[in-house]
Amino acid sequence: MRTTIDSYKSRAGRLDLGGIDFADFRERPLSPDALRSLRYFHDVEHHTVCYLRDLLLTPAHQDPEITAFLSCWVFEELWHGEALARVLEAHGEVAGTPRVAALRRGRRRREAVTTLSTLATAAFSGRAFVALHMAWGAINEWTTQAGYARLSEAAGHPTLRELLRRIMKQEGGHIDFYASEATRRLGENLRAQRLTRYMLTHLWRPVGSGVMPRREVAFLVDYLFSGEKGVQVVERIDRHIDRLPGLEDLHLLTGAMARLTA
Ligand SMILES: [Fe+2]
Ligand SMILES: [Fe+2]
Repeated sequence: MRTTIDSYKSRAGRLDLGGIDFADFRERPLSPDALRSLRYFHDVEHHTVCYLRDLLLTPAHQDPEITAFLSCWVFEELWHGEALARVLEAHGEVAGTPRVAALRRGRRRREAVTTLSTLATAAFSGRAFVALHMAWGAINEWTTQAGYARLSEAAGHPTLRELLRRIMKQEGGHIDFYASEATRRLGENLRAQRLTRYMLTHLWRPVGSGVMPRREVAFLVDYLFSGEKGVQVVERIDRHIDRLPGLEDLHLLTGAMARLTA
């Protein structure tokens, strides 16, 4: 059944941190690899609002259901970033506002390029842009949720597991909206199907690729998505993507992961 904006809005909200004992990380710190992954997720979650800035310049802003979703979505993603900041701070790291400010200072030029390329894509795509945006969003949410699940498993830390479980539940709400909208909008627009397939094939990179250094992207992909379990997760997400109208047999993630780890 199509997930309506009303059902998403009624569930959306600030991440519940009740009972999460962040001091536990001082006594039982995470491994260096788990911490490195958390820095990645922290930075990417906090970058969501910059992604939103670009999207609001496109035809997406004309659809009130899409903007209602984006308003709640960006709020939820902010609190994911804030929660991860508290984990990093419990390890004695600089996180939250000062880390995000430094990241943005270093990205001024790249941000301008990102905004211009989003605008160019939107101008070229017309009405089909929103379907592309919904499909892109679904794929990014599927991979983010799967990344958190793999990190939870790899870190083996009970407090982190509970925190990530709550974050993943909200990512599930994002998946429901993006995937149902992508299915509907692609299903009724052949041009959108062709455009989305083309853009994903040529431009899609793992979430965070536009924000994080390439070595960090390669590390995360290797840490979370290599080995037998990682490959199974990647193939499962590819099956989700391949079920979207016009994206059959795309094998998007399998190809992207192979290129990154080559
Ligand atoms: Fe998130
Ligand atoms: Fe999300």
